[in-house]
Amino acid sequence: MKILGIETSCDETGVAIYDTDSGLLSHELYSQVKLHADYGGVVPELASRDHVRKIVPLIKRTIASAGLSSNEIDGVAFTRGPGLVGALLVGSSVGRSLAYAWGVPAVGVHHMEGHLLAPMLDDNPPPFPFIALLVSGGHSMIVDVQGIGQYTVLGESLDDAAGEAFDKTAKLLGLDYPGGPLLAKLAEKGQPGHYKFPRPMTDRPGLDMSFSGLKTFAANTIRACDGADQTKANIAYAFQDAVVDTLLIKCQRALKQTNQKRLVIAGGVSANKQLRATLQDLNRRKGIDVYYPAFEYCTDNGAMIAYAGAQRLLAGESEGLDTKAMPRWPL
Ligand code: KG4
Ligand code: ZN
Repeated sequence: MKILGIETSCDETGVAIYDTDSGLLSHELYSQVKLHADYGGVVPELASRDHVRKIVPLIKRTIASAGLSSNEIDGVAFTRGPGLVGALLVGSSVGRSLAYAWGVPAVGVHHMEGHLLAPMLDDNPPPFPFIALLVSGGHSMIVDVQGIGQYTVLGESLDDAAGEAFDKTAKLLGLDYPGGPLLAKLAEKGQPGHYKFPRPMTDRPGLDMSFSGLKTFAANTIRACDGADQTKANIAYAFQDAVVDTLLIKCQRALKQTNQKRLVIAGGVSANKQLRATLQDLNRRKGIDVYYPAFEYCTDNGAMIAYAGAQRLLAGESEGLDTKAMPRWPL
């Protein structure tokens, strides 16, 4: 089965074709980062308009680069939610309509399920069951994954997502949007031992998280600092260290609580080198097998939606003609 996957939940238009026999055939991504950079964040109206502009040419290109024609597509998957409603409506309308025109089934995919399954695109995919740490710009959660569609959310952020905290702190440090990767780069120049940020919600039991306090702590620290480049790098270092350490503590707790031996990290923040290295060390220290997606499948992309959609279609699920976008949708 060759499945066309469409991702338009935020500011990336992602399209891919996944073949259930031979894997990923092609994937294309158009990022709107430049469009939103002047505003310091995603402007929903502009995002929708740009998805409308880019989606059809991108679909044509993805089908062509797979060496296929449209009548060889066996199903269409699109992100149904969560995300920006206008942006979601573009992908779901186009995806649902194409499936109707081609006479093939369509399926709406949960964006976070897409992230969760992204490591399955790897040559060495994680076997079930595993614990998944999903950290993106919109969500932070720890999930007990027993199989496709068998997800129990063990904990999640009660306020800002980890990626959101990265982006907001980056802005306070005067970095451009999206600041997460830029803050991580600045942190590489930082030195330990100058600042100590709190590890929120680690001193009480449970797997819920909270990152908005770190942003406030960063705001106060930056306001009181001398503004020198090295000082800012030291603050970036301490902030990143606190986020990574907090996530490490929560993951260890989840692994212990469920007695699981495999950990998957996915979502945009899983591209963070410090987070990867720190969690990878759980292998050496505790014998935990750690998996994460290739860098290009950490942040939003069409490949993860094509893959997740293919699994859903294989399980016999499909969408009626009255499909809807779901800006809020629990996993
Ligand atoms: O998964 P994603 O592409 O979109 C959402 O579903 O939200 O995640 C984007 C988030 C942004 O907050 C971005 O700053 C963050 O992932 N991010 C990073 C890094 N790369 C992306 N955060 C920290 N370090 C990185 N290297
Ligand atoms: Zn995402």
